[in-house]
Amino acid sequence: SIWMSADDFVVTPWHVEGDIDYDRLIKKFGTEKISLELQERIKKITNEEHFMLKRGIFFSHREMNRILDDYEKGNKFFLYTGRGPSGHTHIGHLVPWVFAKWLQEKFDVNMYFQLTDDEKFYSKPDLTLEETGNFAYENALDFIALGFKPEKTKIIINTKNIQTLYPIAAKVAKKINFSNTKATFGFTNETNIGMIFYTSLQSAPCFIEDKPVLIPLGVDQDPHFRLTRDIAPKIGKPKPALIHNIMIPGLKGPGGKMSASDESGTIYTTDTPNVVKKKINKYAFSGGQTSVEEHRRIGGNPDIDVSYQYLRIFFEQDDNKLKTIYDDYKSGKLLSGELKAILIEKINKFLSIHQEKREKAKDQIDKFLFENKWK
Ligand code: TRP
Repeated sequence: SIWMSADDFVVTPWHVEGDIDYDRLIKKFGTEKISLELQERIKKITNEEHFMLKRGIFFSHREMNRILDDYEKGNKFFLYTGRGPSGHTHIGHLVPWVFAKWLQEKFDVNMYFQLTDDEKFYSKPDLTLEETGNFAYENALDFIALGFKPEKTKIIINTKNIQTLYPIAAKVAKKINFSNTKATFGFTNETNIGMIFYTSLQSAPCFIEDKPVLIPLGVDQDPHFRLTRDIAPKIGKPKPALIHNIMIPGLKGPGGKMSASDESGTIYTTDTPNVVKKKINKYAFSGGQTSVEEHRRIGGNPDIDVSYQYLRIFFEQDDNKLKTIYDDYKSGKLLSGELKAILIEKINKFLSIHQEKREKAKDQIDKFLFENKWK
């Protein structure tokens, strides 16, 4: 299993570490690379080339073609993704959500968003259930702020919507045995039993409608759905299809994902312009040289530079502008400080609008909640 491998990187839902080789990860997980043909197919159906597909931010999938075959025959799917509320939302979390929103618009389909307050209570020794519940509320605001349609979008909170989830989770749980989850996640005798049952709760929304589901998600979440896919036929349901994004690097550099618990290495959607500026200037891992002279002479390395990567992954959607930045940084014309300034401006522009929408989301949240009101 991934857990025991001798590789120099680890990718599991609760632990991501090292410099991830995505081609090797595709092999290990047994997923498929998003081919140029698949990109073309999606472009043809949606009439748009999404930058996250073109740039390989979404790089891998399971059975996306089956979803599109069905769709072209007139059979709709639904979308599902989620968030483990262990802290405030950071900008890396927005990547699959923004893409999910694009899919919802283009395919005109329903969307479910699961907030797993129970999961983060089980997996984080220092968090209380009340705290994860509060972060669930905060995270929901960010999700809503991205502009999902309330008529077609429902937010599920595990501890609040358990009545609906539990009968589905029970059917799933009966088909997954301990040795499977143990091998998949590296559980030990010390692992709490909440964790051991948890995959069945993350699986439950896959079967909430009588249609096939497509899940846009960070590739670290794939192991849960590998188990779900294995058992789906055993409970008479279609296997969930998946489309995976890369892990978004933390500010401090390559290796590992942006973690909501390392405050200085993370840009939160709630950060003020000044905090954003300070964090990026102080912490953003640079691919530049140590002196201006050196940088002018040798040039920088955009491929490892976190500021450049954030522009590529999210904040500069114009390909021409991005290419100019890449070339100028590589040639030494653009300095690290100047590259950081470009990113700071982009993020702050985005956040000023996002934070306004986030405030408005407080009055909209009841329209999005599945079954219950918030309190
Ligand atoms: N376990 C995920 C996390 O820690 C949250 C989650 C729940 C999720 N359901 C999902 C993520 C479906 C992707 C797709 O963030």
